[in-house]
Amino acid sequence: MLSEKLKNAINEQINAELWSAYLYLSMSMDAEAKGYKGVANWFFVQWQEEQDHARIFMNYLNSRDEKVELKPIKEVPVAWNSVLEMFQETLKHEKVVTSLINNLAAIAAEDRDFASSNMLIWFIDEQIEEEENARDMIFAAESVEGDKYGMYQLDKELAARTYTQASPLATSAE
Ligand code: FEO
Repeated sequence: MLSEKLKNAINEQINAELWSAYLYLSMSMDAEAKGYKGVANWFFVQWQEEQDHARIFMNYLNSRDEKVELKPIKEVPVAWNSVLEMFQETLKHEKVVTSLINNLAAIAAEDRDFASSNMLIWFIDEQIEEEENARDMIFAAESVEGDKYGMYQLDKELAARTYTQASPLATSAE
């Protein structure tokens, strides 16, 4: 059984992951509307990954016989000034998510809930990757600032990003 505090925090995290998914879907649609199909694809994959994150937490609560409580998803911005700004906002947001995950890990440690601590290790590692990816994209977008052909090339490159299901889901019984 999870502590009330940890169960509530995981339910909040499910909402945060779904909000992240919605944010990136909005970025994808904004990029699509502006003709950046590759950037749109990059954020569309991000949208899929965030849904995986929510699903992992939902599966975890279910497996611990705790109830998933879905809360309303707050609205997200619908437009950004540039592709660079989208990636800057991505990094800013992922840093917030990292602090939320760290907070979950702190509660699990406080509770001496070793199963939860173990589950959270995947997310701690994932956040390193999430922040690194965003930083790489900021560097790429800064490198082509004001260079239309460079942006065209970068957009083509980002069209190649493909979605891979998160490993905890691939090995889950569902
Ligand atoms: Fe679910 Fe982008 O962290």
